[in-house]
Amino acid sequence: MTTFKAPRGAGDVLPPASELQERVARTCEDLFRLYGYRRIETPPFENAEVFSRSLDSRSDLVTKEMYTFQDKGDRTLALRPEGTAGVVRAVLEHHLHRSEVPVKLYYTGSMFRHERPQAGRSRAFRQAGVEALGVGEPSIDAEIVTLGSRVFAALGLDITLRINSIGHPVCRGAYLPRLVAFLEAHSAELCKDCTRKITTNPLRTFDCKVPEDRELMKSAPLISEHLCDECAEHFAEVRLLLGQSDVTFDLDPRLVRGLDYYTRTTFAFVAPKLGAQDEVCGGGRYDGLAELLGGEPLPGIGFALGVDRVALALEEEGASAPERVAVFVIGIGEGAGREALGLATRLRDAGIACDLDFGFRSAKAQFRMADKLGAPFAVILGDREMAEESVTVRNMRTGEETKLPGDRLVTHLREQL
Ligand code: HAM
Repeated sequence: MTTFKAPRGAGDVLPPASELQERVARTCEDLFRLYGYRRIETPPFENAEVFSRSLDSRSDLVTKEMYTFQDKGDRTLALRPEGTAGVVRAVLEHHLHRSEVPVKLYYTGSMFRHERPQAGRSRAFRQAGVEALGVGEPSIDAEIVTLGSRVFAALGLDITLRINSIGHPVCRGAYLPRLVAFLEAHSAELCKDCTRKITTNPLRTFDCKVPEDRELMKSAPLISEHLCDECAEHFAEVRLLLGQSDVTFDLDPRLVRGLDYYTRTTFAFVAPKLGAQDEVCGGGRYDGLAELLGGEPLPGIGFALGVDRVALALEEEGASAPERVAVFVIGIGEGAGREALGLATRLRDAGIACDLDFGFRSAKAQFRMADKLGAPFAVILGDREMAEESVTVRNMRTGEETKLPGDRLVTHLREQL
């Protein structure tokens, strides 16, 4: 027997949830363009090395969560778990930074991570992201964070913005031994995962969700207190500039972010009502990433927003999908039924979203369908209207009907909608 079931953790996005996601993606794209970013499409899979070099070959994302496979030519490829590494690879490959800096690019598309699925976390999910390459100045950090905050303002979503600086490899290099010493002194109290991270990636112990570990990490030495003068100045300037754009934020000295390429400014937008998976958008600076990929030094900063997660947060706040159509065209009788399709085409040509019945069904059945679609107006075409070359417009909310000449219909509806 055939069973129809999408793979675990990679479900379908059906209407109306898909329509909310579309609204999120469109809002992002409109704002990204408003800030001067242009679309880039990178392939959904890359040579696996692009990710293992960018994200640290020992990280969980690479060792446990990446969909890696051999293709028919025996190349080792991976489905992209995130968008930044591919964008940086493309910029280096096409030398985009040689003709213009900053290189300002945006993308929307599916990402793939073999994580344990739960509400707000899937194995195939969509991100909308921006990347600005070639400029190390704090002003671009401020632009990027401001852009993120304006996306959430445009969507009407209540969020908290957390920011931090995790320094560059030199100041981090001086700080890490202190953190490791602290972790080793408390290794008996740490969870198994954190004990492992002492050697693989000590900073990530700040990300642990285990309550006892979180409590312990409150007394751990903080990177923010060990920044070199240059990194501290950079971060101070970012905060000043954000204030000038009226961006409110919380300083979070324990925000380290999950990916290993970050340097200096890191930030996350959190939707407090979402529960465990409450981070709806995250980003930061990645000044060493181009070199990790084997390219020349090229600073960069960006963020990616989880389209699915943001749509979920909007739903939690009671947002509904936009109405499906403005008008339902009702043809009563066979002649009018045929005429109805022509009328619908004229309305659609005029940019008025409408739908109609295709089965010459009874007037009652058609009104029921108009109700089901939530159309605010019905345009009724019956024998009498056909003879008079008129139409009747019914306001589906109030029940009020207006009869008017057919050639006035588009103007009338535009006034009403
Ligand atoms: P990330 O924090 O790994 O960063 O992911 C960004 C966003 O993608 C998260 O805040 C979350 O909303 C969403 N997301 C991540 N994993 C899942 C999942 N399994 N299911 C649903 N949504 C998910 C990055 O990917 C970086 N490339 C961001 C960046 C761009 N940094 C600089 N430029």
